[in-house]
Amino acid sequence: MLELKDITKTFGDVVANDGASLKVEKGTIHAIVGENGAGKSTIMRIAYGFYTADSGEIFVDGKKAEISNPHDAIELGIGMVHQHFMLVDTMTVAENIILGAETGSAIGLDLDEAAKRIRELSNDLKLGIDPNAMIEDLSVGEEQRVELLKALYRKARLLILDEPTAVLTPQEVKDFFSILRRMKDQGETIVIITHKLEEVLAVSDHVTVMRDGKVVGDVKTSETNKQELAKMIVGREVLLRVEKTDSSPDGSVLEISNLSVGGKHGRAVEDISLQVRSGEIVGIAGVEGNGQSELIECLAGLVPASDVSGRIDFNGKEITRASARRRKELGIAHIPENRHKRGLLLDFDLAENAMLGVHYRPPLANAVGLLDGAAIEKRTEEIIHDFDVRPPKPHLPARSLSGGNQQKLIIGREFELDPKLLLVSQPTRGVDIGAIEFIHRKLIEMRDRGAAILLVSAELEEVTALADRLLVIREGEIVGEVDPKTTSVEEIGLMMTGGQ
Ligand SMILES: Nc1ncnc2c1ncn2[C@@H]1O[C@H](COP(=O)(O)OP(=O)(O)OP(=O)(O)O)[C@@H](O)[C@H]1O
Ligand SMILES: [Mg+2]
Repeated sequence: MLELKDITKTFGDVVANDGASLKVEKGTIHAIVGENGAGKSTIMRIAYGFYTADSGEIFVDGKKAEISNPHDAIELGIGMVHQHFMLVDTMTVAENIILGAETGSAIGLDLDEAAKRIRELSNDLKLGIDPNAMIEDLSVGEEQRVELLKALYRKARLLILDEPTAVLTPQEVKDFFSILRRMKDQGETIVIITHKLEEVLAVSDHVTVMRDGKVVGDVKTSETNKQELAKMIVGREVLLRVEKTDSSPDGSVLEISNLSVGGKHGRAVEDISLQVRSGEIVGIAGVEGNGQSELIECLAGLVPASDVSGRIDFNGKEITRASARRRKELGIAHIPENRHKRGLLLDFDLAENAMLGVHYRPPLANAVGLLDGAAIEKRTEEIIHDFDVRPPKPHLPARSLSGGNQQKLIIGREFELDPKLLLVSQPTRGVDIGAIEFIHRKLIEMRDRGAAILLVSAELEEVTALADRLLVIREGEIVGEVDPKTTSVEEIGLMMTGGQ
């Protein structure tokens, strides 16, 4: 169905694809895996005409194809769903789907006709999408199905999905895979980029492994396993589980009493009390959107005081109303869940991002606040080196890094502060398995040095593997504490959903 031959693509002096070739067979689900920055998104964006290759050839259905923009790709039956959805909230499903599809047509938009076809497509695949629903009323999982419908409406025969499950809950992932299988049964060809090896094994027929812009492996899914894939991806043996000793917690660092936090739709956090001690990782498990984001943001000082009631103490001192800057000065670091909104200034370079939040004080600035260029350079080099940020160029804009490398930069910056309390949200979202192993090890080292860590993750496996104590949050309330060593993922799942 698709062949990419000898594709090379550079951005400035960064080689994103380096003579990469791959073939996708018709009617299969084809996974593409590889480290952060390996060139997965780039090569697929070339197939979709989002970028044009510097050299190389593309064949569709065995015929050489010129794809110089997404319009060409759509004409050839190629669709792509990007990791960040591109839907307009205040419009209906049908309106979103025909947006763009009808440009250049002299005939007016026939919404009713479109809605009818969308309903048929949705019914065929059991997507359960109402064409007249407003996007803002849909869940993330539903929005994703709208993106699929949008591609199918444009008659895509080959669908490229870039990390489609990163934002889905475990149940949504299952449903999503059933949909992909039904699409395959109807003759669709699907390319899925993912970092999750369980997913590769569960849903794909074929796997291509990329590293440093090249294709380094090509296997049938039925003939490989997790360990082997991990090794091909990283180029060495990878530890696929977290190794840690029991914690030996010390004094209380963070003490939360009867904390409530207002949110967009009323109260997001309801009367939470909890404690995190020095030398322990306290995990919070919950379905996303149950108050965990607001809780962490409130602790980091990012929620207006008027939305907060209750009390937060840090090392015996009340900080409920302290500013974010003050909290950072006291020794609280924050790895935010949304790296674009909260973690980085995308148009600033790596060095500038590496000093965010501590740029005004020694050692990065002198006593009167003048930046010390040499100190900043040194700090940046350390982060890049210790956290393996690629490409290792302090003066690239953060925007040009791949998602996983952006995350490593943020984690490096916050770790460099040597915090007493670390607030961590979704530390490994979009991060490759080698880097996950690394980040997990770093978190445990940080714990063993005596830091108190509060960890929120939508990955149940991650939070159970890392946490010494695990709290379950539902509708803004802590509904229970479990021992992560003895409680099954199913039991925790039931608590998270209230047994539904
Ligand atoms: N628009 C761009 N400008 C500059 N550099 C870019 C751009 N897009 C990608 N790159 C660089 O090209 C390389 C490959 O990036 P790409 O996004 O394809 O990686 P990836 O395999 O999708 O990684 P991830 O798993 O983190 O998403 C990276 O080094 C990245 O920094
Ligand atoms: Mg990518």
